[in-house]
Amino acid sequence: MASKTSARVRTTSSNGNGKHSPEPRLSQRAPQIQPYGTLRHLPIALPDKARSGSCAVLNEILADAMVLYGLYKKHHWLVAGPTFYQLHLLFDKHADEQLELIDLLAERVQSLGGIAVGDPRHAAELTTIPRPPDGAEELSVMIDRTLRAHETVIEKVRAAIKTTEESEDWGSNDLLMGDVLRRHELQVWFVAEHVVDVPLISG
Ligand SMILES: [Fe+2]
Repeated sequence: MASKTSARVRTTSSNGNGKHSPEPRLSQRAPQIQPYGTLRHLPIALPDKARSGSCAVLNEILADAMVLYGLYKKHHWLVAGPTFYQLHLLFDKHADEQLELIDLLAERVQSLGGIAVGDPRHAAELTTIPRPPDGAEELSVMIDRTLRAHETVIEKVRAAIKTTEESEDWGSNDLLMGDVLRRHELQVWFVAEHVVDVPLISG
């Protein structure tokens, strides 16, 4: 048995033809192959100017979506009070939907030949959504903070819809209008209804 084991070890470390080895190649280091903010050429019949302009605005909205996702998860965990259960579920649903938008936005940037924001610390540098306190806030404050974060993103999305229309980047334009804007507007509606002061029974 001992000789079989040592034979197997010899086989994996010396690979016979000298070309392939089953051993993982660890500690690989090399300079990055495409820096952030640059474009590579993809044959999609769209000028570089249009592609780079779209990548810049999409990445800003992507960074905001990452931060908004985090805000929804934070509020999903910290929500309290009589509406705990429904808001706990709603905030998680919205977080999941923002996660879908994150993927759509990132993959659109990649489709344009750019580099999508990936690291949350990079997103934190780009976002304009104010950082919440690390502790817990009252529910009405959490909701207000969430609605203002949405509006910050929606302003950028509306501007980006115009930009992509002018540059005739219809793929990004469609994504921004059909997926991003409508999703944000719907989420705002669902959250805002929780701060309408309407009694269950009047009189
Ligand atoms: Fe959860």
